[in-house]
Amino acid sequence: MRFLDWFLLLFIFAFTIPRSVEAQNQAGFISLDCGLVPENTTYVENTINITYKSDADYIDSGSVGKIKDAYTTQFQRQLWSLRSFPDGKRNCYNVNVTANSKYLIRGSFVYGNYDGLNQLPSFDLHIGPNKWSSVTIEGVANFSMTEIIHVVTQERLQVCLVKTGPTTPFISSLELRPLPNQSYVTETGSLTRFARVFFSTSSSVISLIVLLFFLAKIC
Ligand SMILES: *[C@@H]1O[C@H](CO)[C@@H](O)[C@H](O)[C@H]1NC(C)=O
Ligand SMILES: *[C@@H]1O[C@H](CO)[C@@H](O)[C@H](O)[C@H]1NC(C)=O
Ligand SMILES: *[C@@H]1O[C@H](CO)[C@@H](O)[C@H](O)[C@H]1NC(C)=O
Ligand SMILES: *[C@@H]1O[C@H](CO)[C@@H](O)[C@H](O)[C@H]1NC(C)=O
Ligand SMILES: *[C@@H]1O[C@H](CO)[C@@H](O)[C@H](O)[C@H]1NC(C)=O
Repeated sequence: MRFLDWFLLLFIFAFTIPRSVEAQNQAGFISLDCGLVPENTTYVENTINITYKSDADYIDSGSVGKIKDAYTTQFQRQLWSLRSFPDGKRNCYNVNVTANSKYLIRGSFVYGNYDGLNQLPSFDLHIGPNKWSSVTIEGVANFSMTEIIHVVTQERLQVCLVKTGPTTPFISSLELRPLPNQSYVTETGSLTRFARVFFSTSSSVISLIVLLFFLAKIC
């Protein structure tokens, strides 16, 4: 079959399978709102029904901060606070995971002029000793997200922010989602995200727009 046929098949499939996002099972999810205070706060971000908690149990270093009020309305709550790392070249989160299993790891970043310097940061992310990605913030109110699909071999995973220049690394949220062993099978290495298509539960309009977009790309 041609790619287009595959896509149409997928499209039909996405529409016919009954989905239950509302009763989403968050077992094994780790959803950290970095820099959230007080440290024992948890809440549900109700646009996505995900329960976030403070990152305090996962890291000893860094300072807590908050994006300027002017920017909060355009972002989900987990992006309002952040943790920044003015000290040290490398600062790491320690996360307990299930050894030999696959995770989607996602870092999200909104600068929001939290430090009042109006200076856009850039820095690196590492998983353990290996470089994962470089983050370059392109605007004060830009949202950036970096994702990787990674097989963890041990029960402990380190996600590190590494200073690469004069600006201070920071992170707004860090999320881990366990994936079935059989998904995204690769011979070696990790996968980075190229694109994600979300077929909405409620609005067929979004799916239709996505379809038209793909058709326009293909044809
Ligand atoms: C979140 O959960 C509530 C209650 O279960 C539900 O009514 C609502 O539609 C859900 N929202 C989303 C975006 O899934
Ligand atoms: C959070 O901690 C504060 C003080 O440390 C305490 O008074 C409060 O009851 C705690 N809240 C929860 C939900 O555990
Ligand atoms: C991770 O596991 C260690 C050792 O079992 C435990 O001491 C620590 O509290 C755990 N950390 C978190 C954040 O659950
Ligand atoms: C990021 O910010 C720059 C400068 O403010 C803007 O031109 C650009 O469109 C933004 N990019 C995204 C993806 O929002
Ligand atoms: C996934 O596969 C690995 C190796 O093939 C195995 O050790 C592990 O137990 C599997 N994990 C799950 C959750 O099935």
